[in-house]
Amino acid sequence: MSYGLLKGKKGIIFGALDSNSIAWKVAERAYEEGAEFVLTNAPVALRMGELNALAEKTGSDVIPADATSMEDLGKLFDHALAKFGKLDFILHSIGMSVNVRKGKVYTDLNYDWLTKGWDISAVSFHKVMKTAWDKDAMKEWGSILALTYIAAQRIFPGYNDMADNKAYLESIARSFGYEWGLRNKVRVNTISQSPTPTTAGQGVKGFGGFIEFAEDVAPLGNATADDCAGYCITLFSDLTKKVTLQNLYHDGGFSNVGVSDKVMKRYEK
Ligand SMILES: NC(=O)c1ccc[n+]([C@@H]2O[C@H](COP(=O)([O-])OP(=O)(O)OC[C@H]3O[C@@H](n4cnc5c(N)ncnc54)[C@H](O)[C@@H]3O)[C@@H](O)[C@H]2O)c1
Repeated sequence: MSYGLLKGKKGIIFGALDSNSIAWKVAERAYEEGAEFVLTNAPVALRMGELNALAEKTGSDVIPADATSMEDLGKLFDHALAKFGKLDFILHSIGMSVNVRKGKVYTDLNYDWLTKGWDISAVSFHKVMKTAWDKDAMKEWGSILALTYIAAQRIFPGYNDMADNKAYLESIARSFGYEWGLRNKVRVNTISQSPTPTTAGQGVKGFGGFIEFAEDVAPLGNATADDCAGYCITLFSDLTKKVTLQNLYHDGGFSNVGVSDKVMKRYEK
């Protein structure tokens, strides 16, 4: 059901890889709610070709950009600004740890890989916002969002150096969000999403256990990628204009539960 919440709004959506991606669901939902946007992903991800189907469905252009490259980001924003004028929203839905991918444990990290993963997963958010800032790309009361995970605050073994990357990402959201708010009333937030079966999610060691545990702890159960898309839409809409500098848990209540009845049952003698 469409509420027309994003009617006339323009944006950029980073990170739709395939139909499981959170960004993919956000793009579908944003389109239903009346938004127009440019889709972007790393050139290597675009070679898979899946994004073209989403672009066709939503009438969007696809512009390749490695989110760690200021040059690529500059070209992407130039394209979006020429097409739409100033923007109402940006979604940063990007994450990758080379150490996780290559099975390095936290006590034995490869620091070159750590630096690369940090650049992709965290610093890229600063780079995206700096590009938008320098080009004065955002409309007043615009909204910028990034996706994060509760491993930034609590231990989830296996999440590895991504936990540190997410903590850094959340801090960038606050620090840059403060500047954006003062300059042109743009809000910047992170959504801390439940474990979700996507390419990035399933790359984490023990993901199957994570997702089941979270389901048993959260009174509402895990939030799906579709649920997350709905929440992103509210944060891009005019109904949330004064929400900024927040890390917003979107996890069925998981983050505030110590132990649940379901989990206790497993331990009761
Ligand atoms: N899946 C989960 O369990 C979960 C939970 C909480 C938060 N998140 C976060 O949600 C976001 C989206 O992940 P997802 O779960 O939809 O997985 P996904 O694998 O579908 O998306 C990750 C995206 O990052 C892109 N990417 C990687 N390197 C890039 C680069 N250099 N430049 C541009 N893009 C690049 C990938 O191509 C991919 O599209 C990530 O920030 C992730 O950490 C995921």
